[in-house]
Amino acid sequence: MSDVMPPLRSHLMTLEPRWREWVDTLPALRDRAADTWDLEVGPFLSQSVGSAVLSVTRRGRPAALKLFTPDEHFTRQVGTMEAARGRGYAHVYESDVDHGAVLMELLGRSADEEWRVNYGNVPAELLLDSLAIEPMLHARTQTLIEAWTLPLDVAPEVDEKTHRAAQLAEQIEYWYRDTSIELDAVVKRALLFAEQRLQARNPDRQVVCHGDPHSGNLLAVTSPRPGAPAGYVWVDPDGFRCEPDFDLGVAVRESNRLVLSSEDPVVMLRAWCAQLAGETGTDAEAIWQWGFLERVANGLYLCHRGMPEQGEQFLKAADWLISRRSFG
Ligand SMILES: Nc1ncnc2c1ncn2[C@@H]1O[C@H](COP(=O)(O)OP(=O)(O)OP(=O)(O)O)[C@@H](O)[C@H]1O
Ligand SMILES: [Mg+2]
Repeated sequence: MSDVMPPLRSHLMTLEPRWREWVDTLPALRDRAADTWDLEVGPFLSQSVGSAVLSVTRRGRPAALKLFTPDEHFTRQVGTMEAARGRGYAHVYESDVDHGAVLMELLGRSADEEWRVNYGNVPAELLLDSLAIEPMLHARTQTLIEAWTLPLDVAPEVDEKTHRAAQLAEQIEYWYRDTSIELDAVVKRALLFAEQRLQARNPDRQVVCHGDPHSGNLLAVTSPRPGAPAGYVWVDPDGFRCEPDFDLGVAVRESNRLVLSSEDPVVMLRAWCAQLAGETGTDAEAIWQWGFLERVANGLYLCHRGMPEQGEQFLKAADWLISRRSFG
């Protein structure tokens, strides 16, 4: 690993024991699923520590097999997708959460990949003036509206300690103690927003949120179908109760490149929040606050996990949003 950058190296070193353990576990999970569900196993579609997605066929029909270290998170994820019955989420064909396996509808490229293929080389200044962003946001809202139709009892009730705003505040404080970057103003604002979101919590408005609806988790369906009004569905949900503005905040937490290139990022991002709120009947200010909280939490988390280059982009964008300057 001598040619790897030191921060990335330290990140990979911390992952190494878990990675080895996972690589050792994977064949047994795969073979068990293949035997139980009569699958022909094809190539990996994705692999990370503790999780893998494979292309498979069953009686000649394509499907995707996700293998995961069995745990509460995976059980919740599969339960959420099963309850959706294809509405806004990938169809689940079979599941065995005790053995870390779920067989689901094979999907196409993620919205993130499509965005990179189509616009990855387009300078941010040109993108900001283009009409590309509106349909990208529209696909999110249409697919989230479907996903939010899940019955509430799929996820447990939340209180002032387990509400997402309280958890984010706790995580932000914890991770901030761990970083050497001077970010007091950004963190103070994030904690203020967390308090406001916590005070505004309202069980009557809550839905089963996806929890992490970033564009890498929004995948294209291979042919038009009910439950996928914009041609996409979600995978990889956390499935917890929260106000729907939370999920929309995740949608505006991305696009650091555009935020950092914009002369007036506040006007730009507020316009996105207004579009998302208008299309979903939610509150633009709440989306703004969740988006800011998510941006800060994500940036600190990435730094904490030994990925400072990625993390700092989020934190610089957050700083740019409140002070029209960015550190470093
Ligand atoms: N049903 C599917 N059909 C095709 N590809 C899929 C499917 N589900 C997942 N993938 C691919 O695998 C990737 C990882 O899937 P997913 O997000 O469920 O896994 P994860 O490892 O839990 O999450 P992450 O990699 O986001 O941490 C997706 O981004 C997508 O590229
Ligand atoms: Mg994912």
